[in-house]
Amino acid sequence: MRAILFGPPGAGKGTQAKRLVDLYGIPQLSTGDMLREHVKNQSPLGLKVDAVMKSGGLVSDDIVIQMIEERTQRTDCKNGFLLDGFPRTITQGQALNAMLAAKGQQIDVVVGIDCPDDVVRDRAVFRRSCPQCGAIYHLQSLPPQVSDTCDRCGKIGLIHRPDDTLEAVNKRLNKFHGETAPLTSLYGAILKRVDGTKSPDDVTASIRSILDPLAASSS
Ligand code: AP5
Repeated sequence: MRAILFGPPGAGKGTQAKRLVDLYGIPQLSTGDMLREHVKNQSPLGLKVDAVMKSGGLVSDDIVIQMIEERTQRTDCKNGFLLDGFPRTITQGQALNAMLAAKGQQIDVVVGIDCPDDVVRDRAVFRRSCPQCGAIYHLQSLPPQVSDTCDRCGKIGLIHRPDDTLEAVNKRLNKFHGETAPLTSLYGAILKRVDGTKSPDDVTASIRSILDPLAASSS
């Protein structure tokens, strides 16, 4: 199953993707996580994209398209993958379609997680994540059991992303509405929408009602 999780910054794509990979046995391909890893390691690519990411801008299409082209060729993608944060522009969406068509493949489903701007602003500003295992928390709605400590791996010192300031989040929202939302025109009937304002468990249930039948038919 080849699926895209689509939605504004802070809609819950990463939170849901981390639950879905275990359920369906396919990897989460998050361009945001891949880019943050480069920034953390101060690789040449990381040094190049650091400032634009911090400000809430978009990294150039050629960089992320190449990352996804390489990543989808790995053996763990042979039964499919779950894209999170890619594609984000019409150019990226067309490149992905062409990349898959060259292998006789296509995207099976796009799950749009709908969430209004005021909700995602709050979620980003209160988000914390584990620098070791990537687990995601929200200081009010999904806090760790022990303050500043990851429930999953025990790492002390959760981080607040530098692009989760109100100013950067507003810029990311502008980018989403201006450059990413128009992508829905590429997907027609395979775009299915869920209400991202519900609880994380309810959102997972809504997504499963879409993906379970597809996973069953592709196994
Ligand atoms: P990326 O990492 O992809 O960020 P994003 O799309 O802005 O999405 P987020 O990670 O902010 O949010 P999310 O939807 O995953 O929400 P989460 O689950 O964490 O990209 C970062 C940057 O990298 C971009 O700005 C850009 O610079 C660059 N980049 C990446 N891909 C690119 C591309 N393809 N092209 C160009 N540039 C690219 O949840 C958010 C918070 O809400 C958490 O605190 C969570 O606990 C909480 N939460 C989640 N679900 C719920 C719920 N149902 N109820 C209550 N709280 C919830």
